[in-house]
Amino acid sequence: MKKGYFGDFGGQFVPELLMPPLLELEEAMNTIMTTREFQREFADLLRDCVGRPSALTHCPNLSKDTGVDLWLKREDLNHTGAHKINNTLGQALLTKRMGKKVLLTETGAGMNGVATATAAAMMDLECVVYMGAVDVERQALNVRRMELLGARVIPVESGTKTLKDAINAALRFWIAEQGNTHYCFGTAAGPHPFPLLVREFQAIVGREARQQFQDKTGKLPDVVCACVGGGSNAIGAFHAFVPDESVRLVGVEAGGTGEPGCYNSAPLNLGSEGVLHGMKSMLLQTEEGQILPSHSVSAGLDYPGVGPEHSALHASGRAEYDVINDTEALNAFQVLSRREGIIPALESSHAVAWVLENKDKLQGKSVLVNLSGRGDKDMDIVERVLG
Ligand SMILES: Cc1ncc(COP(=O)(O)O)c(C=O)c1O
Repeated sequence: MKKGYFGDFGGQFVPELLMPPLLELEEAMNTIMTTREFQREFADLLRDCVGRPSALTHCPNLSKDTGVDLWLKREDLNHTGAHKINNTLGQALLTKRMGKKVLLTETGAGMNGVATATAAAMMDLECVVYMGAVDVERQALNVRRMELLGARVIPVESGTKTLKDAINAALRFWIAEQGNTHYCFGTAAGPHPFPLLVREFQAIVGREARQQFQDKTGKLPDVVCACVGGGSNAIGAFHAFVPDESVRLVGVEAGGTGEPGCYNSAPLNLGSEGVLHGMKSMLLQTEEGQILPSHSVSAGLDYPGVGPEHSALHASGRAEYDVINDTEALNAFQVLSRREGIIPALESSHAVAWVLENKDKLQGKSVLVNLSGRGDKDMDIVERVLG
């Protein structure tokens, strides 16, 4: 495989000025991250500060309701409430070891922003977070959390004022401030080596889940299912299962409202190959290569691109990708809350909804859903939409 590529996807489509920090990061991955000392410190942090291993929970009520043997990998129980902290703590530790002082990131739902601000506070680093102005409004609670944690949150007013625009702004900041700053990319996308780096830090999700599932049931699940925004929780959940041919891997993209004139956030199902944010991947774009505005009720899935490894898994057929719309996700948000006492993030609700919508085809099968985050941040928006 070509360096920095997954099949035909990936690469480093960046301005010349971004090559030095990307090469520096790759060097740090090869020298610092591979040391026993780094790995030991990271493992200690995941155990003592994140609360890993996260639980694997069986859902008895929903299993009875649906006829599907449903299990949840509980990333919602992590410190700060989502899978994002696995990656931000790893990158913050690397930043510290690289001798840099500022942790820069972008955020959509605010979970990556909160997780980065938390890691920065722990490592005594400054934190700068770019966030689309629309997301600043719809995820207001997380903005307050980031500010309390000491981060500078900068609203982005360009484009659709969502995640894509926040990444553009963060990349511009990095070009100017690279000497002292590490860009803590929040998902398994962007130019090489970010898709690989983020997968390395998130792969613990699938490693733990595979072992826990075997310990509890004596076998592997029939299906592993996760929502896909940029793709970090899904690639983290899938990675350990890729060699297990009996296990179906299902990524769930966001379908938006489905109304005319509303663009969805499902580039693997409805997009084409192109270049965005330094990577070649599947994108929502016009025939001329103009990026289309995405939409989803969940800010964390509201992105017109996807990480390159998912594009490769899609192209090879090893993973399948389906679409769940806003209404189905909102329904799953309520169903999981009422039937299992777990309030999921709207992002994760898409993965739960996939099981509910496909229950007839999944009768008697065991399905492991990666519950990527908790839903406190979404209470306002759900109440507004559902009335
Ligand atoms: C809880 C949660 N799940 C999923 C996502 C989507 O990101 P990714 O596809 O990188 O896991 C986000 C993004 O903000 C999130 O907050």
